[in-house]
Amino acid sequence: MRIALWEARFETGIPLIDDQHRALFEAINALAESFKAGQASAQVKESLDFLAHYTLEHFDSEERHMREMGYPKLQEHIQEHTQMLARVQDLQVRQEGGFMVTADVALFFADWLAHHINEVDMGYVAFARESGESSSQG
Ligand SMILES: [Fe+2]
Repeated sequence: MRIALWEARFETGIPLIDDQHRALFEAINALAESFKAGQASAQVKESLDFLAHYTLEHFDSEERHMREMGYPKLQEHIQEHTQMLARVQDLQVRQEGGFMVTADVALFFADWLAHHINEVDMGYVAFARESGESSSQG
């Protein structure tokens, strides 16, 4: 089940970030797919673990990048990342604890990511462009 579809409007022009965003879309699709095996399945656990791990790695990359270029809205951006990570980690705990976790969490993540890229990430992308940074940097 593909619920998170990549669109041209998500391109930041920063290759590392675009690659990571695409991989996150795939991770969300894999999570949606995993629910076919049942909400308490090992597949859901694995998909959630991967999503949590990869999200952390991606946020680290973005935050490092923003820090390096002295992005003024870094703290606000980190706050959004922290809230999102907390959601994923909370789900991991709930799923492992046998609490009901449904496939619509994948939809929530897909919506969150689309919104985050367009409204929040594009802020630092614009800043990077204005600062005359080369698009080859990640
Ligand atoms: Fe971000």
